[in-house]
Amino acid sequence: MKSSAEFDVIVYGATGYTGRLVAEHFSRTYGSSSEVKWAMAGRDGKKLAAVRDEIGAASSTPLIVADSDDAAALRAMCERARCIVTTVGPYQLYGSKLVAACAATGTDYLNLSGESNWMRAMIDYHEAEAKRTGARILFSCGFDSIPFELGVMFVQDIAKRRLGHVVPRVKGRVRGLGGSLSGGTVASGEATRAAAARDPSVIRLLVDPFALTPGFRGADQPRGDKVEDDPDTGTKVGPWMMMPINSKNIHRSNVLMGNPYGSDFVYDEMVMVRDGEKPLEFTYADGKVQKPGEGPSKEERENGFYDLVFIGIDRDGQKVQASVYGKKDPGYGSTAMILAETALCLLRDGGDVAGGILVPGAALGQKLIERLQARAQLSFKDETR
Ligand SMILES: NC(=O)c1ccc[n+]([C@@H]2O[C@H](COP(=O)([O-])OP(=O)(O)OC[C@H]3O[C@@H](n4cnc5c(N)ncnc54)[C@H](OP(=O)(O)O)[C@@H]3O)[C@@H](O)[C@H]2O)c1
Repeated sequence: MKSSAEFDVIVYGATGYTGRLVAEHFSRTYGSSSEVKWAMAGRDGKKLAAVRDEIGAASSTPLIVADSDDAAALRAMCERARCIVTTVGPYQLYGSKLVAACAATGTDYLNLSGESNWMRAMIDYHEAEAKRTGARILFSCGFDSIPFELGVMFVQDIAKRRLGHVVPRVKGRVRGLGGSLSGGTVASGEATRAAAARDPSVIRLLVDPFALTPGFRGADQPRGDKVEDDPDTGTKVGPWMMMPINSKNIHRSNVLMGNPYGSDFVYDEMVMVRDGEKPLEFTYADGKVQKPGEGPSKEERENGFYDLVFIGIDRDGQKVQASVYGKKDPGYGSTAMILAETALCLLRDGGDVAGGILVPGAALGQKLIERLQARAQLSFKDETR
């Protein structure tokens, strides 16, 4: 871990839809105080200056210009920071050189990637170097997958307290959701579909729950691909679009911690469907497919929320239940707060976290739950009856 640098955090991609919200969070919460030294970065200096003014950040907020294809500029940016928070995506198109620069310079890195084909490639190429230089590289630091990864961790802690042991089976259930998709997220989905069309091995990886745990393969996992009755929620449940990425991250989290949930741990994620209702899902903002740079309105973000349930079941059928509730829309309003505060948690509380390509909950555990409750409007509850 770098103990000092000119900046604690550089927000790279600050001109994009999500990056602007992340920069706004730093500006509003930490302002130009000396508590957090932060800067905004992107490929276009004029656009950066305009965004800085639009979000009301101090005119003294430093701006750094670097194109995602310019390895020398990325390296120079990394050398000025303890940590880079990047929302420059699709990551498989614009993200690889920055991971390489962070791994080489021992700079911490956080992103919002749900692109598992690219994440696996980055693990294969850069994990050894990140371990050597001490760079802590954290993927999926937004709605996918932090509330889900921490929800599983939280329900396992409840199981240990109430039942005296962890549980081999957890069901993640989306009980409520209000939110829509940005243009950058749509573009990332399209980039993954194009990669799968070019290379069939990508499809095998996308459907494999253990694609992010090279060298480890656990028990067979539920497919979660059809509507079915769920006696544990008392409702029907249906497929959930984020299960493929979240379940991969949760299995990697278990493996990186040394399999505390067991090497036969089984997890699935589905949405609860009440009689006569359509399954919950993300919609398109304004009812239309968004272009890069576009996303939900401020009102949509402020009125959004998510309500997740985690049911843990032991081998005797004993159950525990937890919930994770987030204010603001999941993908952007909540995600921007989660990403920014996870970076600060890593810098402040993560002194003993070694370098590597990590999963946020496995790296930071209870400290991250506490920080997100205090600073990112998340709440974790024990709902065991
Ligand atoms: N996991 C989650 O929960 C979650 C939530 C939200 C977003 N995301 C992901 O985050 C990413 C961003 O989404 P978004 O909606 O914010 O996208 P966006 O609005 O299109 O923003 C993309 C950003 O990347 C920058 N960029 C593009 N090409 C670049 C280059 N060659 N060099 C430097 N910067 C470049 C853009 O700069 P310009 O402004 O100059 O064009 C912009 O700042 C996507 O991959 C999305 O899937 C994930």
